[in-house]
Amino acid sequence: MFDRNTIKYLSEIETPFYYYNTNLLHETLFAIQEAADLFGYHLHYAIKANANPRILQIISKHNLGADCVSGNEIKAAIENGFDSNKIVFAGVGKTDKEIEYAIKQNIFCFNCESIQELEVINSIAQKYNTKQRVALRINPDINANTHKHITTGLKTNKFGISFYDFKTIIKNINNYNNITINGLHFHIGSQITDLSVFAKLCEIVNETYSYAISNNLTINHINLGGGLGINYNKPENHIPSFQAYFKIFNTNLNIPDRVQIHFEPGRSIVGQCGCLITKVLYVKENDERKTIIVDAGLTELLRPALYQSFHKIINLRYSKNEENCRYDIAGPICETSDYFGKSVSLPETERGHFLAIYSVGAYGEVMSSQYNLRNPALKYFSDDLIEKDTQLENEAVSKICSFS
Ligand code: LLP
Repeated sequence: MFDRNTIKYLSEIETPFYYYNTNLLHETLFAIQEAADLFGYHLHYAIKANANPRILQIISKHNLGADCVSGNEIKAAIENGFDSNKIVFAGVGKTDKEIEYAIKQNIFCFNCESIQELEVINSIAQKYNTKQRVALRINPDINANTHKHITTGLKTNKFGISFYDFKTIIKNINNYNNITINGLHFHIGSQITDLSVFAKLCEIVNETYSYAISNNLTINHINLGGGLGINYNKPENHIPSFQAYFKIFNTNLNIPDRVQIHFEPGRSIVGQCGCLITKVLYVKENDERKTIIVDAGLTELLRPALYQSFHKIINLRYSKNEENCRYDIAGPICETSDYFGKSVSLPETERGHFLAIYSVGAYGEVMSSQYNLRNPALKYFSDDLIEKDTQLENEAVSKICSFS
C-alpha cells in the first residue's frame, strides 16, 4: 500500500487522516462479485461499515445493493447511486419516521426484528395505502465465536425474532394486510473467522425455511447477513476468500433454486482498503515502558478501545520495518483506554515520524467522534495521488521517509 510515491503524497497532508486505496477496493469488489456470481448470490453492501460518499459511489457503480440501518443510511445510499429497489432496511429500532421514509423510497425490503415492529410497519403501510415486503430476521441462537460485542445471533442478544414469536406471526398472518412476508433474514455476528459456524447457520436456515413453507408462507428470498472476517494480522492478504465463504452456503443450504440468496457484507469489502495515518507527537518513558503518543486517538479509531482489537502498525520512515524496539502506542484523548497497541514491535521511532495503522476501512471513519472537541480527520484517496504525484518535490519526501 505504501510505495515511495504514496509516501511522498502523504507527507503533504495534515495528520491524522484516513487514506483509502481505491484500486484495492475495486479489486475486492471484482473478487466478491465474481464469487457471488458463481453461485447466483445477491449482494447488499452493509453501509454501516463505511459510509464515506466516495466509497459508496465506487461500491454502487459495481451494482451492489445496500443494507441500511437508519433513515440516513438509506438517504446516503440513494444519494450515492444505489438503486432503492436493492435496499434492505434492518435494525432493531426503526423509528416511525424512518419507516415512513423507507416506504416513500420504495425499498426492496424491511428486515423486521420483532412482532411489535411488524405491527408498526403494517399500520404505517396502511396509512400510505401500500403493501410492504418484509423479511423476518430470525434469531438462530448460534454462537459465532467472535468478540462478545459483535455477536448477534444468540438468544440472549437483542437481535431478531425467536422461533416462538415466529410461530405466533405465522398463526396471525392474516392480521397483516399491508405486509407481504416473503423473506427470511439471519445475521449472527461480525469478524467471523471460524467458518464452520456458517455451516451451522445453514442447518437452522434449512429448518426455518421448511417450517415457513409448510405453514404456507411464500419465501422468495433468504438473506444470510454479513460477518465474514478479515485478516488483521496480515493486512497484506488483502482480499478474503469469498469463494470459500460462499461455497459453505452452497454446500450446506438445502433451498430450492427459485429462492434468491442474499448477503450483506461490510467489513470484508472495505476493511483492508483504508489506513489511518498519524504523526508521532512524543516518545516518553515511564517505568521502563516506552510510550509513543500519536496525534490520532480513539476518536478516529475506536475499535482497539472498544473491542481490544489488533491493528497492524508500521513506521513509514523505514522502508523495512526492523522491529527492534517495543512501544505502547497511545492517542491524545483523555481516556485510559486510548491505545492503538501495547508492546508493539517497531523500529526506533521519534517525534515527527508517521505511523500507518492498517485495516481501518471498516468501522473506522464511521465510528469516529469529536470527543474532546477534536476536528474531524480528513480523508484522502489513492486516485488523487495520480494527479498530485507530478507536483511533489523531493523535499516533501524527505520529511516523511528516509529511503527517497
Ligand atoms: N448485516 C447486519 C444485520 C449487521 O448487523 C451487520 C454488522 C452486517 C450486516 C455487516 O457485517 P460485517 O460483514 O461488516 O461483519 N463495529 C464493529 C462491527 C459491528 C457490526 C455490526 N453489524 C467492529 O468494529 O468490529
